[in-house]
Amino acid sequence: MSTIRELRGTGRGIGAFNAITLEHAEAIVAGAEDAGLPVILQISQNAVKYHGSLAPFAAACQALAAQATVPVTVHLDHAEDEALIDEALTLGIRSVMFDAATLPYDENVARTRAVVERCHAAGAWVEAELGAIGGKDGAHAPGVRTDPAEAAAFVAATGVDALAVAVGSSHAMNSRDAVLDDDLIARLFDAVPVPLVLHGSSGVPDEGLRRAVAHGIIKVNVGTLLNRVLTGAVREVLAARADLTDPRKYLAPGRDAIRASVTHTLRLLGEAA
Ligand code: G3H
Ligand code: ZN
Repeated sequence: MSTIRELRGTGRGIGAFNAITLEHAEAIVAGAEDAGLPVILQISQNAVKYHGSLAPFAAACQALAAQATVPVTVHLDHAEDEALIDEALTLGIRSVMFDAATLPYDENVARTRAVVERCHAAGAWVEAELGAIGGKDGAHAPGVRTDPAEAAAFVAATGVDALAVAVGSSHAMNSRDAVLDDDLIARLFDAVPVPLVLHGSSGVPDEGLRRAVAHGIIKVNVGTLLNRVLTGAVREVLAARADLTDPRKYLAPGRDAIRASVTHTLRLLGEAA
C-alpha cells in the first residue's frame, strides 16, 4: 500500500479504523474527508463473523472507498482463517493482515510466508504480527514486547509489507492510560525495514499516539474507541427519548460521533512531529 510506505521516516502516521456496521464505515470515510487525509477502513475477521459473511459488507466498504474524495484502503484485519484471506483477494481487497501471532515462531513464519506469496501474486499488501507469548490477547497482552532482532528476522523470512509490534498497548481497553515504550518503538524502527503497526490504540492517550508516531509507528489501528463514542451517543439519545423507535434517530448521532473522533485522530497522526 503506497500511502503507508511513503510515510516511513516522515514522523507522520495514518489511522486504520475498524468498521462493524455500515454507519461505522460511512463515518470513517466522512471523518477522513473532513480531515482531508487518507484512511484505512478495516473489516476484522470478527466483524465478518458477526455479519455471517464477508462479501456484502466488503462491497459496501469498497463502494464507499470508490466514491470518497480522499484515498481509502479497505483492509481485512486480524484474519486467522487463510480461506477468508483468499476470499478477500477474490473480492478485490488488496490489503490484509494475517494474524498467526499465537502460533509458535517457526509455524508463524512458515504460514505467514505462504500467505505473503499468495497475496503478492495477487498484488495485495500483507501485514503480520509477531507474537511472543500466547494467551487471549497474543502479542498485545500487557507486558509483551516485540524483540527488534527477532522482528527483523521475521520480516526477512516472511517478506511481509508491515509488522504489528507489541510495545505496550492492549486490545479493547476502555480507558486511555496505556503507556507505550517509545524507546523500543525507535529501536524497532531502526531494525525493521517495513512500516510498523500499533494495535490496541484505543487505550493510548492522544499524546502517547503522537509520540508513538514520532518514534516510528506508521499505521495506528483504532476500534474500541469508535464503539465507545457510538454507543455513548446512542445511549444519550435513547435516555432522553424513551419513545424513539426509528433507528435513524439514534444511529445518526452515533455516526456523527464516530466521524468527529476519526477526524480528530487522523489530524493528530497526520501532523509531522
Ligand atoms: O486491529 C484492530 C485494533 O488493534 C483495534 O484495537 O479496539 O483496542 O482500538 P482497539
Ligand atoms: Zn488489532
